[in-house]
Amino acid sequence: MSLERFEKKKTLDLRKKHIGPSCKIFFSHDPIKIVQAKGQYMYDEKEQSYLDCINNVAHVGHCHPDVVKAGAQQMELLNTNSRFLHDNLVVYAQRLQATLPEKLSVCYFVNSGSEANDLALRLAWQYSGHKDIITLENAYHGHVSSLIDISPYKFHQLSDAEQNQFVHVAPSPDVYRGKYRADHPDPATAYADEVKDIINKVHKKGGKIAAFIAESLQSCGGQVIPPVGYFQQVAEHVRKAGGVFIADEVQVGFGRVGTHFWAFQLQGEDFVPDIVTMGKPIGNGHPMSCVVTTREVAEAFMSTGMEYFNTFGGNPVSCAIGLAVLDVIVKEDLQGNALRVGRYLTNLLEKQKEKHPLVGDIRGCGLFVGVELVRDRSKLTPATAEAQEVIYKLKQQHILLSADGPHRNVLKFKPPMCFTTDDADLVVEKMDHILTELEEALGLKLPNTVNPENECSKRKLPTDENGHQYHSGLVQSRGSSQQTKPLKT
Ligand SMILES: Cc1ncc(COP(=O)(O)O)c(C=O)c1O
Repeated sequence: MSLERFEKKKTLDLRKKHIGPSCKIFFSHDPIKIVQAKGQYMYDEKEQSYLDCINNVAHVGHCHPDVVKAGAQQMELLNTNSRFLHDNLVVYAQRLQATLPEKLSVCYFVNSGSEANDLALRLAWQYSGHKDIITLENAYHGHVSSLIDISPYKFHQLSDAEQNQFVHVAPSPDVYRGKYRADHPDPATAYADEVKDIINKVHKKGGKIAAFIAESLQSCGGQVIPPVGYFQQVAEHVRKAGGVFIADEVQVGFGRVGTHFWAFQLQGEDFVPDIVTMGKPIGNGHPMSCVVTTREVAEAFMSTGMEYFNTFGGNPVSCAIGLAVLDVIVKEDLQGNALRVGRYLTNLLEKQKEKHPLVGDIRGCGLFVGVELVRDRSKLTPATAEAQEVIYKLKQQHILLSADGPHRNVLKFKPPMCFTTDDADLVVEKMDHILTELEEALGLKLPNTVNPENECSKRKLPTDENGHQYHSGLVQSRGSSQQTKPLKT
């Protein structure tokens, strides 16, 4: 039986007619229609498979049978709000807590990463009695108004007048391209001192810090791994100012980094955030999320006397699904798999770096890996168009990867955690061919310098994943030129 109701063209036409035009689609010039998925594979209407290297939501594998069964069984019995007593809620909270440091013991269940971060801000404002928030360059924390305000990834597209004056942006702790690099004697302190300077400036203007918020590893920001010790120092400065540290684990939590269950733990055992937000992988595709905090922060939130009610957050079906996800991670040793396969993938990619001048940096932990493409290794000129070409050509070969970061030149790996070494071999082999072709066309050799005569002359200008043509970092769309707009995943 066909799994599609309409032919692809009709689906696309109906989508154009009824779905908001700002809801973008991957590869808009030739979109993929997916009708089924399993493990690390997605299938289109013609039953062709695509290897999924980017979907960290399908954490334990697309449509994992244990997760589907847990949800269906609970749905047959009961689904209601958390104002009734139900064991799923407390058992799940207990299980989640067991993965975290002791003092992070109080949960609020919500329905999306955005809801989790919005609630985290409310907790911080209420607990501290302060207003100002420090966020990181290129950060994305969600789509609701309060989070666009703290997401430079989005708000850099707004005018200064539209930006929230209580929000302050600290440099991204990127030791490859950022302000302080790997050759700096102590990048962790240097980046943390930037946060301290912001706090001092805010104080001088009469403001007070409510929170510092950061992803434990920046994802949309370009797969950035902060130097160890940075969070400890930032937390010290922020707490001294009366604020809290919010760790956004929406993309990177639940064992993805391999060595630890939570990415903030990469900083060391001496670092514990005041608030942790979770989302995407938590429900393996079921819309659920969570905020975990300390008893002190939760008590302060309670002190307003205002009830916190969330119709769907923590319902018995979501909790059953969340429990099943935790069970599968353990049963299938997916954290161990992330460590092993992640290391294997990173080693393969390191070899690509030795071979390909376009590969500037490989960085990652477990199955969270970034490949930064540059045209010139000394100048770090972003190879934005080339990154798009890699994505596009991989898509033609049924491999789904995406590019992100401020220059859209970082290839992001964050596949379902059942990704295998064979999958890693396949994608790296294909990348190898594509990079070789690109470098030949560009006349690029190690050490990499571009021969200007060859540049773009021997080949068609590449297009981004949505069919727009690139030229010198600008994307040409329907005759007009506009700045590249990222398509977040
Ligand atoms: C780091 C981070 N935080 C929060 C969010 C918001 O999550 P959601 O889209 O579930 O609202 C996202 C979404 O991409 C994210 O990447």
